[in-house]
Amino acid sequence: MAGKKKPRFLLAVETSCDETSAAVLERGRILSNIILSQDEIHSPYGGVVPELASRQHIKSIDYVVSESLTQAGVGLGEMDLFAVTQGPGLIGSLLVGLTFAKGLAYYFKKPLIGVDHLQAHIEAPFLENDRIEFPVLALLVSGGHTSLYFLEKPLDYRLLGKTRDDAAGECLDKVAKFLKLGYPGGPVIERLARGGDSSCFHFSLPRMKTAGYDFSFSGLKTAALKIIREHGLSAEHPALRDFLASFEETVARALLENVHKALEEFRPASLILCGGVARNTRLRTRFSELAEGYRLPSYVPSPRLCTDNAGMVGALAWKKYQVSPVSSTDLDLDAYPR
Ligand code: KG4
Ligand code: ZN
Repeated sequence: MAGKKKPRFLLAVETSCDETSAAVLERGRILSNIILSQDEIHSPYGGVVPELASRQHIKSIDYVVSESLTQAGVGLGEMDLFAVTQGPGLIGSLLVGLTFAKGLAYYFKKPLIGVDHLQAHIEAPFLENDRIEFPVLALLVSGGHTSLYFLEKPLDYRLLGKTRDDAAGECLDKVAKFLKLGYPGGPVIERLARGGDSSCFHFSLPRMKTAGYDFSFSGLKTAALKIIREHGLSAEHPALRDFLASFEETVARALLENVHKALEEFRPASLILCGGVARNTRLRTRFSELAEGYRLPSYVPSPRLCTDNAGMVGALAWKKYQVSPVSSTDLDLDAYPR
């Protein structure tokens, strides 16, 4: 059977961190993309608690997958392919999705395609635009990762640099936690910074001592915490808005400095910004300003496709399958935390 009939429907599962997500795709296009966030569970702790995350995935996965099928109007037995995030992420969380998808693929005797979570983020803008020109320079900014990639052609990922310490999203989350603003910190900071004066507080940009495209955000976090202490800033302080606007602006500038440098060296045809922090309006604006300065097209996914979702996982799996089709369920497929 497999190999004769051209695949049409794909079910993708994503559980790498604190979102339980399942998506149904038809020939690489999203029919449904269900995302169940665990924000409320982790919020009291100011960050993701791995043990709680994996337990919650176990509780939600069945419902999320059923809902994705209902919304797509397609039955489980009609799936031609299954896809799942293998890593990087929280190992317990990854294993929930991987085991679930493996079980389905094995039962229905269909291929299972393992996908890298970071590469899946880069795939998100392609879901909304199939004319993105290569070579591509892609900046991935999430809660766990901050990386710069160069793609000469599709599926050809060359990592130019990554963070040596905290990810940009992690830096936002930790500063928000310190100020007791809630979790996840990125969206809260964005909301509270609105209308603030971004030139009010001065942060020096993190500088890497070595050449290349690595990032560092722990220095910026320390500088932010120092300012908070020195000025006695709190959730109620009148200067909070200006402080958060200044901090958000500095994070955006630190991210774009490396993109700017890489643009000069690699001369890409297009630019991509992706990952959860790409939801941030200030960063989106600065990114498109940079691209316009170079007269380059830039692509940033719609906010829902920036944060973790199974749609991007399915899209990448579909593309991988077109290039190298597999016919059996690979039961050896393993999860990797990093
Ligand atoms: O990609 P993602 O959903 O998960 C990981 O793979 O890490 O990204 C989550 C990160 C969190 O750090 C969160 O604070 C940040 O994305 N984030 C934002 C915004 N929305 C989510 N950061 C800044 N502004 C936002 N609007
Ligand atoms: Zn992610």
